[in-house]
Amino acid sequence: MSTQYPVASVSEIPPGSSLEVVAGDKVLAVFNVSGEFFALDGICPHAGGPLGKGTLSGTIVTCPWHGWQFDVTTGQHCLSPAICQVRYPVTIDGDRIVIELPDDDT
Ligand code: FES
Repeated sequence: MSTQYPVASVSEIPPGSSLEVVAGDKVLAVFNVSGEFFALDGICPHAGGPLGKGTLSGTIVTCPWHGWQFDVTTGQHCLSPAICQVRYPVTIDGDRIVIELPDDDT
């Protein structure tokens, strides 16, 4: 089972930008890569930095605290293959960005 959370409107996250949102009890980072939306766990695994407030360049987000970088389309850390941030499915419903979280993960 899963639950869908409308987290923002499309216009709130223009292409090339990101937004930190809360869905259930999770902090998520939502990214717009050339009109396609991606969502990751928003808490950087290094020291808890806010990935949704990072800098997005192409598909790469740079954490604002110490510069760890992740591919937002996969969650993969750019240097360490062992680190992969959890991704969540994103759908668009009209102007709403909707993120699906598994119920046992909220
Ligand atoms: S908290 Fe993200 S790089 Fe340190």
